[in-house]
Amino acid sequence: MSRLVYVLNGPNLNLLGKRQPHIYGHETLADVESDCRALAKTLELDIAFHQSNREYELIDWIHEAREKAGGIVINPAAFTHTSVALLDALNTFEPPVIEVHISQVHKREAFRHHSYVSLRSDGVMAGFGTQGYQLALRRIAHLIDTKKA
Ligand code: DQA
Repeated sequence: MSRLVYVLNGPNLNLLGKRQPHIYGHETLADVESDCRALAKTLELDIAFHQSNREYELIDWIHEAREKAGGIVINPAAFTHTSVALLDALNTFEPPVIEVHISQVHKREAFRHHSYVSLRSDGVMAGFGTQGYQLALRRIAHLIDTKKA
C-alpha cells in the first residue's frame, strides 16, 4: 500500500495560532506541517499537506488521494458539521481515514457534537490539541504496516 498520506485542513485553519488561541493553541499551521513532516520521516511516510477555505478544493484533494494515497488525516473544521459532500468524497476512498479536531468538540456547542465525516472515519482524535495530528499519523502508519504484513 502507498505510504503517501494526505493531511487535509478545512476552513479557518490557515489562522491557527492567531485564531481563538485559548481554544486552538498558539501553534501555527506551518508548525503543524513541520511537526507532521518530521514525524513522517521517522515513520517512513510521505506527506501531502493542504489547507483550504473552499469545500471543493478539499473534495478535489480527496479525489486525488484516491489515486495516490495510503491514508488520509483530515481536520474538516466547520465542514465536519455541515458537509455531506465531504462525506461522499471520503466514502470513495478505501484506505484508512482519521479525523482530527484540535479542540474537544464534545465539550463545546451542541452543533459541534455531530460529524458527517465520522460516518466514514476509522478513528477520531478530539481534544489532543495539535498533537492529535501526530497521533493520527502514527495510527495510519500502524494500519499501513499491519496491512502489508
Ligand atoms: C475544529 C472544530 C470545529 O468545530 C471547528 O469548526 C473548527 C476546528 C477543531 O480542530 O477543533 O474549525 O475542527
